[in-house]
Amino acid sequence: MKILLFGKNGQVGWELQRSLAPLGELLALDRHDRHYCGDLSNPEGVAATVRAVRPDVVVNAAAYTAVDKAESEIELANTVNCAAPRAMADAASECGAWLVHYSTDYVFDGSGDRAWREDDATGPLSVYGQTKLAGECAIQASACRHLIFRTSWVYAARGNNFAKTMLRLAQERQQLSVINDQFGAPTGAELLADVAAHAIRSALQAPELAGVYHLTAAGETSWYEYAHFALDFARQAGVALNTPKQAVTAIPTSAYQTPAKRPLNSRLNTEKLQTAFDFRLPPWQDGVERMLSELYGR
Ligand SMILES: NC(=O)c1ccc[n+]([C@@H]2O[C@H](COP(=O)([O-])OP(=O)(O)OC[C@H]3O[C@@H](n4cnc5c(N)ncnc54)[C@H](OP(=O)(O)O)[C@@H]3O)[C@@H](O)[C@H]2O)c1
Repeated sequence: MKILLFGKNGQVGWELQRSLAPLGELLALDRHDRHYCGDLSNPEGVAATVRAVRPDVVVNAAAYTAVDKAESEIELANTVNCAAPRAMADAASECGAWLVHYSTDYVFDGSGDRAWREDDATGPLSVYGQTKLAGECAIQASACRHLIFRTSWVYAARGNNFAKTMLRLAQERQQLSVINDQFGAPTGAELLADVAAHAIRSALQAPELAGVYHLTAAGETSWYEYAHFALDFARQAGVALNTPKQAVTAIPTSAYQTPAKRPLNSRLNTEKLQTAFDFRLPPWQDGVERMLSELYGR
């Protein structure tokens, strides 16, 4: 099997390089590749890459993910998140290839407190969410067999993430304010990559599995509880923090202004995925603890 991966150096792309390698021949590209166009700001270029490589599976881990900046870079966000996936899907369909693509909880408006199901009405609040939804729709409108995984609150040991930022701030400051009215499930890039690899194997044998799936770790939390979880872990690992536990203050989203509006309810119902592929998704704490153990050697 030949697999073509776009976005090899992102959080998820990095882990996909590991998880996809045993499935077959893997060609992994970033935007600066010297032999093939891996730059999603050039949709014709990425389509030409798909036609030249003629893979069995295209995996797209690249995306315009700068949520606040997207509010002022609408055209670029739309090209990378919608026009490029559409071009990939059309080229993949010409070659008879599958397309595996990631999307986001930001396609929903964040109302209510029920976990969103795949067929719930969408209503993105931000340019990022709108462009990711447009990307999903473009892939679904193509003739390409696809798996689209909507996920949330992605972290990886490599690069920056929320838990690392909280730990750095707690070492620098004596007081922290953290949002306590947004709810979701922190989901590790490792899990996203592993599930994609398993799902690809199943889907190639059972094409009726094509579709949109919600994929997050199990359970839910708020950013405030997530911060406490990471800080408690660090304290127990002997990391010296300047912020005492009682000096972590819960604040509402309205007290923290950002250019892009975020959904309050990012809970995603993952029953469809777990049933279709016979997966069990582990609790979010397992993956976060593992990432923190790697960082703090405990
Ligand atoms: N991060 C989250 O919390 C989150 C939540 C829900 C869904 N998702 C979705 O999950 C997927 C993976 O996200 P992630 O967390 O791995 O994101 P990430 O770490 O920000 O990685 C995104 C990758 O896309 C690449 N990229 C950006 N513009 C590009 C372009 N024009 N051409 C080629 N590559 C380009 C970036 O390359 P450079 O390093 O060169 O910029 C980076 O390697 C995305 O579809 C994202 O929308 C993420």
